[in-house]
Amino acid sequence: MARLTIPEIQAKKGKEPIVALTAYDVISARLAEEAGVELILIGDSAAMVVLGHEDTLPITMEEMLIFSRAVARGARKALLVGDMPFLSYQTGPPEAILNAGRFLKEGGCQAVKIEGGEEVSEIVNAVVKAGIPVLGHIGLTPQRASALGGYKVQGRDLDSARKLMRDAEALISAGVFALILECVPSELARRITEKVPVPTIGIGAGPHTDGQILVFHDVVGLWPRFKPKFVRTYAEVSKEILRAVSTYAEDVKQRRFPGPEESFRISEEVLRALDS
Ligand code: KIV
Ligand code: NA
Repeated sequence: MARLTIPEIQAKKGKEPIVALTAYDVISARLAEEAGVELILIGDSAAMVVLGHEDTLPITMEEMLIFSRAVARGARKALLVGDMPFLSYQTGPPEAILNAGRFLKEGGCQAVKIEGGEEVSEIVNAVVKAGIPVLGHIGLTPQRASALGGYKVQGRDLDSARKLMRDAEALISAGVFALILECVPSELARRITEKVPVPTIGIGAGPHTDGQILVFHDVVGLWPRFKPKFVRTYAEVSKEILRAVSTYAEDVKQRRFPGPEESFRISEEVLRALDS
């Protein structure tokens, strides 16, 4: 089956919800796609859930490309979006175009994601004009968490709600093909969704967006960390892994592993010759 295209994703607006999820390696990509995920984001959340950093800022272009290529080897049908890491686009259009282009040239992606609203709209527009589709991302933008005063819901008061509406409009003018809304009150997300011509994909943005996205590790329970209010965890995979590895460790200590069925044999004849 051919890969989902951007027009096909866009055609779902107003018809059926878009299923999106992050992935960072071949296994998560393959499983996500097999489960029906239509858009896979190689998120810079990899900085935290894969590399163990405190926030998303330290991850580099080179690291993001390693994860992107691994995902591209595992996913054949989903639309793949590379998340532009901190300082890969903020310095201006030329560097943004070069780095965005690397996700397509080297990363196996079909599009990139850029965090920010009005303040990055010129950069977004330059990347789009270069022929690289951009997924916008407004509301809580983790690369700006420090400037925003932490990981907080955005758009609750009138000024910041208006700012979000302006951000959405600026990104539409800049040419984004879809828009992620992160940590935004449901009714504001509904208004933005009704106003913009492209799909909105929510994370902590309520039920009215055109699609939903979550972090892979949160969905499967692979990351025993603080669980944000907007996450629904569908499995406890880390518990199952802990059980398996603990049992393996115990079996090794008790000499229960390996058994005869996991070991290789040699003929008595060869052994006798060897020992003589
Ligand atoms: O990096 C990430 O995982 C993200 C999404 C959750 C939107 O940016
Ligand atoms: Na991100």
